Amino acid sequence: MGIVQEIKKFVEEECKKPTSKYGYDPYLYHFIPMVKYAEKLADKLGGDKEVILIASWLHDIGSIVYGRENHHITGAKIAEEKLKKLGYPQEKIELVKKCILNHRGSQQNNRDSIEEQIVAEADILSNFDNISGIFYAAFREGKNQGEAKEAVRQKLENKWKQVHFEESKKLIKPKYEAAMLLLK
Ligand SMILES: [Fe+2]
Repeated sequence: MGIVQEIKKFVEEECKKPTSKYGYDPYLYHFIPMVKYAEKLADKLGGDKEVILIASWLHDIGSIVYGRENHHITGAKIAEEKLKKLGYPQEKIELVKKCILNHRGSQQNNRDSIEEQIVAEADILSNFDNISGIFYAAFREGKNQGEAKEAVRQKLENKWKQVHFEESKKLIKPKYEAAMLLLK
């Protein structure tokens, strides 16, 4: 089995564990679409595709295992341990770690490689494939239907503003416009 498949399997198994902080849903509705976007962007923009795919699968693993707080830091640590065990080259591990450490909006100024930028961008784009998940989070916070609709619209509008590459804008525009049409 290739290294990317190996990592994908590892992430799926962590999501299936009863201890997973967010259950199995993130695997289906966040990681799968996110990796799909990362792969498309890697094909268009370049970068080390293997590193990009590995980092995409692992970018939220800290959140699954320990919860959301500092999940970029806990995730980078889990990734390093797992990849070392699999004999992955150390310089590639360092780049995977940087992608995970800097995927959050708060870390955007630390990104200095195309791999880091693509992972962060794919994370943003994946929101447009998971509108039901954003609604679910809003209802869990106790919002009523009107408030939830507004929260989802605002979140997607913010995500749209964060899209960085022209290629991704082109890719996501139809979904963004459809969402705005339905949620306004
Ligand atoms: Fe994510």
